[in-house]
Amino acid sequence: MLHNHNISTRFCQALLACTLLLGSYAEAADKLANVTILATGGTIAGSGANSTTTVGYTAATVGVDSLIKAVPELSKVAQVKGEQVFQIASENMSNEHWLTLAKRVNVLLAQPDVDGIVITHGTDTLEETAYFLDLVVKSKKPVVLVGAMRPGTALSADGPINLYNAVLLAANPDAVGKGVMVAMADQIHSARDVTKTNTSTPDSFKTTELGLMGYFQGNKPYFYRTSTRKHTADAEFDISKLDKLPQVDIVYGYANVSPVALNALVAAGAKGIIHAGVGDGSLAASVKTALIAARKQGVMIVRSSRVGQGIVARNGEANDDELDFVASDTLNPQKARILLMLALTKTNDSKAVQKMFYTY
Ligand code: SIN
Repeated sequence: MLHNHNISTRFCQALLACTLLLGSYAEAADKLANVTILATGGTIAGSGANSTTTVGYTAATVGVDSLIKAVPELSKVAQVKGEQVFQIASENMSNEHWLTLAKRVNVLLAQPDVDGIVITHGTDTLEETAYFLDLVVKSKKPVVLVGAMRPGTALSADGPINLYNAVLLAANPDAVGKGVMVAMADQIHSARDVTKTNTSTPDSFKTTELGLMGYFQGNKPYFYRTSTRKHTADAEFDISKLDKLPQVDIVYGYANVSPVALNALVAAGAKGIIHAGVGDGSLAASVKTALIAARKQGVMIVRSSRVGQGIVARNGEANDDELDFVASDTLNPQKARILLMLALTKTNDSKAVQKMFYTY
């Protein structure tokens, strides 16, 4: 009888300890931020023939649940949920994909039970999606884009650590109000200023002259700078009712260039042209004539540069006041295209568009 009593007392004590332990786990989990991972494809979801395949692999093959399962450490830093939004290589990212993604991000961030969002993405157009979201997300909550330069099957795959860092960042209160960010190779970059600089190395993403925002170290993000430009909740663009964006295309400047490509794009209905000029946005004479003609037909012209760094000077290599052109400031051609598309949803006045290029 006494023996039975001891056993049942010990059983009750063990049960109580288990209940308390489970309770404290639940309490700890309750205190973690809620981060939703939206997966769109890319190399971070890619797989190769063997562990040394770092080129020539297939992007966008692994689903979001597997990406999350591959990094069990995520459960220590956030309560993570996954959604598969697309499963594509990012060279196929379109304006329509962006509108779908941005609307989903805005719906999620409006929910009190979502503290931050991570978007897994192919690296080829990651900077473009990041900048688009930087201009249209209506929240101060963190949005972090992340990719990988090596597929998950490769030796030293960079996807798992990049994803871990991205979730750390999205879950961190210091990341609130900093605009859309990119987490790659232990570094934090602002969507506006980051660009892919190398076809294949893991340290491909750089914010060269303007400088990165910060680093990850010891399971923490450390911030050193933020962009001075307006973004997210302070931006004026509203895509909530749009299912299409104005057609804006890019023409490239080079020696011996002709206006054939430019004229074809204008004939195909472009509402805006970004000219990726040589040097400080210089225009070859024949292209300049075609750009002037296009402007007279109502096409908005933005002079950007193929150089990659520096301000394209308004009224520098062309008289923008006289020609009614816009200068791209420091935006590279692919990001200037995004800002111009959004600008054209609000105005056809080149002076107002120029103001936006100095604001965002
Ligand atoms: C892609 O952009 O989808 C492929 C390349 C990559 O993710 O690194």
